[in-house]
Amino acid sequence: MKNIESNLKEKRIFHPSKKFIDQANLNNENLKELINKFESDPELCWKDLAATEITWIKDFTTVCTGKSPFFKWFEDGTLNVSENCLDRHVQTNKKDKIAIKHVSEDNNITNLTYEDLFLKVNAFSSGLKKLGLKKQDRVIIYMPTIPESITAMLSCARLGLIHSVVFAGFSSESLKDRINDCSAKAVITVDSFKRGGKSIRAKDTVDDALDKGCPSINHCIVFKNSSEKINFDKTRDVWWHEIVDKKNGEVIDPVEMNAEDLLFILYTSGSTGKPKGIIHSTAGYLLNCILTNKWVFDLKDDDIFWCTADIGWITGHSYVVYGPLATGSTILIYDGAPTYPEGDRFWKIVDENKVSIFYTAPTAIRTLMKLGDELPKRNKLNSLRLLGTVGEPINPEAWIWYYKIIGKEKCPIVDTWWQTETGANMIAPLPGIYSITPGTCTKPLPGIDIGVMDANGNEVKNNNQGGNLVIKKPWPSMLRGIWGDEDRYISTYWEKYNNKFYITGDTARRDEDGNIWIMGRSDDVVNISGHRLGTMEIESAIVSHEFVAESAVVSYSHDIKGEAIHSFVVLRNNFKSQIGKQFADELREWVKMKIGSIAKPDRISFATNLPKTRSGKIMRRLLRNIARGEKISGDTSTLENENILNQLKDVF
Ligand code: WT7
Repeated sequence: MKNIESNLKEKRIFHPSKKFIDQANLNNENLKELINKFESDPELCWKDLAATEITWIKDFTTVCTGKSPFFKWFEDGTLNVSENCLDRHVQTNKKDKIAIKHVSEDNNITNLTYEDLFLKVNAFSSGLKKLGLKKQDRVIIYMPTIPESITAMLSCARLGLIHSVVFAGFSSESLKDRINDCSAKAVITVDSFKRGGKSIRAKDTVDDALDKGCPSINHCIVFKNSSEKINFDKTRDVWWHEIVDKKNGEVIDPVEMNAEDLLFILYTSGSTGKPKGIIHSTAGYLLNCILTNKWVFDLKDDDIFWCTADIGWITGHSYVVYGPLATGSTILIYDGAPTYPEGDRFWKIVDENKVSIFYTAPTAIRTLMKLGDELPKRNKLNSLRLLGTVGEPINPEAWIWYYKIIGKEKCPIVDTWWQTETGANMIAPLPGIYSITPGTCTKPLPGIDIGVMDANGNEVKNNNQGGNLVIKKPWPSMLRGIWGDEDRYISTYWEKYNNKFYITGDTARRDEDGNIWIMGRSDDVVNISGHRLGTMEIESAIVSHEFVAESAVVSYSHDIKGEAIHSFVVLRNNFKSQIGKQFADELREWVKMKIGSIAKPDRISFATNLPKTRSGKIMRRLLRNIARGEKISGDTSTLENENILNQLKDVF
């Protein structure tokens, strides 16, 4: 494998076939037209796309307005996203088309047509309305990826409620912080759900969060997803099935929303201990979702699109829910573990349900690759026609395995670069056009203007020289800010280059063909299995343990997860005797309880102090060297306490 890999590294190994090109939504001809139009008149281009792709209640007259860094798109138009995802299809022959194909861990399959989903959303919207929820109230959704969580999102959109989906793997503390940050009025959850054969009691976690103090919450709506008994507080809790409209047919008019009204908040990690509530508005977000589903995923009427992301992440919002449903497609959702009951579960689902487009994360690809080729080879995989990846750079070895063993050398792979903040794919191959080299997310999409900048805000001059990845022009699905924190929005994303460009936080290089290679983050954010976590967030969780005096968290590269967490810990004087495996494990459980399983440190080292400069600053560079098994680089003369480095070598 190594040899093939190094031979192919710099070669474009995939060329789209004539068969693929002939049917692609974007081919060389219409792409040229599109690009020319974007070059000569970008406003007109966005205007025409928005007018054709979206069903408006009231037409817009302006395109991009406002002053950096506060942009508005199609500002005076009105629309409703749930109308765009449902009503407009129900009025056509798509009414009987399958919208959602749900595969449960136990392999129960539920098919919902567009009409079924429309009825479900109307019935649940009626319930939400009865609870007195009003336009732009915040609603938390703490549920697995099942038809009801999608129904909940679309019902919020229908009534103009701002949803914030919290990944159901987050702890009660993380949930409480998010509820309080946006003063949510209601939380929607399930009694429990199954994962890897085990029951996860979501309602208990919600109870814990609410017990810790969430004064804004008036209602907790519980969907009965299992037969498990739960606590039920009648003053606050209501069953989903008790509030839905039983007449089964009442249509709740979609609320007329302004293009710039908020559609959702989604929390993501940043450089401080506190997650940021990224806010997205209505029309612009929807437009880029629709376009990228058509351009990058080449989505067609007869496709079955399976994006494995949980709805708790932005990928689940844009490529499970809003993009595919607005284009009237069929999506497959699976809410079980990838290797349950066996390591070929994903491939079985592909075969049994004739999945044609499959989108997942490099960490999943690496996990499944490690299990060996025999598992995918038990299945035909001949329904697949396009594969995608997202979340972190994909290493060429995994790319080639995905291409050969899963795609049988006939499926283009779209390596899509984007972020919670960008709302939709920004850099990605157009599958009917580009030849692709493994490891690069290739080029910016039409209408997206990417730059690789030096410290002074000039484009880096040389090919393959690293710089800060920025987006130079506003785009419709860009974030509109951070909930309740305008200063942080400006300082995180804009200030460094005087509000001229949106700063992604990633570093990247451009090769001689103009392909973008993502190199990593430029801030204290780590990427564990494609999930973004702030090192400060993990540090503050560790330090909140009563035995701990101080902690620093860095990442090192990991075979499967991409990056993994190494935390360096100093215990308080009275607790020094605790150093050892047992306490390290206790600390892991502590972090799980504070944030969630994804943040558990893989490695923990203890010391009497952390390496610091004379002015008391932790020398993270040294810690990174240790964690990554590198030679200590650079100057250590500023190090106050050199003997510390030896202590830090023991790992638990
Ligand atoms: C960060 C965004 C966008 C949905 C998933 C994660 C990294 C994302 C790629 C890619 C290399 C990637 C970046 C980015 N990233 N896609 N194709 N190649 N890196 O969303 O949690 O908002 O994280 O994920 O570092 O900034 P997110």
